[in-house]
Amino acid sequence: MAARCRISRRTALRHLAAWGAAACVPLPGRAQKAALEPTPRDAEGPFYPVRFPPDIDSDLAQIQGRAKGARGTLLYLSGRVLAVDGTALPGAKVELWQCDSLGRYHHVDGDPGERDEDFQGYGVAVADAEGRYGFRTIRPVRYGARPPHLHFRLSHAKARTLTTQLYPRGESAERSAGFGLSDRGTRARLEFEVANAAGRESGALAARYDFVLQN
Ligand SMILES: [Fe+2]
Repeated sequence: MAARCRISRRTALRHLAAWGAAACVPLPGRAQKAALEPTPRDAEGPFYPVRFPPDIDSDLAQIQGRAKGARGTLLYLSGRVLAVDGTALPGAKVELWQCDSLGRYHHVDGDPGERDEDFQGYGVAVADAEGRYGFRTIRPVRYGARPPHLHFRLSHAKARTLTTQLYPRGESAERSAGFGLSDRGTRARLEFEVANAAGRESGALAARYDFVLQN
C-alpha cells in the first residue's frame, strides 16, 4: 500500500515556486475546458515499493540530512493533474518511484547490487489548487533490458487511481517484450520532452507532463 503522504500543502507550494512550475504551466480558462483523453495506463512494475524511505518528499535527488545529492542527471519534472473535463484536481497525490543511476530500486526485495544511497527512490507530490505538481529527481536510466522510465501512481477522491509509466521522448519504443504497451500511439502519449533547465544546476534537465485522470 502507498505510504501516507506526509508533506504539507505549504511544502508542495514552496517546491513549485522554487522550481518555477507555475511559470511554465498555462492555466486554462472556462472557455478552454474540453474533453481530454485520459492518460494511458501502464504496468505497475517492477517494482512498486514494499517499504518506504523516511524521506518521501518530492525531491528524490536529495535525501534530508545527507550531505550529498543523488548521482545522475538532475531532472525537474512538473505539470498538472486534470480531470477529463479539463478541470484541475487539487490535492491529487502523485507518487513517483524509479531506479537510481546504477539501475537499482531501493525499496523492494531482491534487487541486489551497488546502490546510490543518496537517491531517495520514491517520493510524493501533492497537486496545488491549480492541479500543479513538481518533482526534482534524476533522468531515468535503463536497467537490464528496460528503457529509461519513471513509475507513477496518481490518486484523487474524485477520480480513478491511475498507474502508469513515463519515458523520455523516443525511448518508449525500446521497451522489452512482456512489459505492457505495444501500441506505438499509446506509448507516444506517455513520453515527455526533455530540455535544458534554465537557471538550474549545470546540466540539469526539465520536462513537463500533464496527467488526465478518469472519473
Ligand atoms: Fe521499472
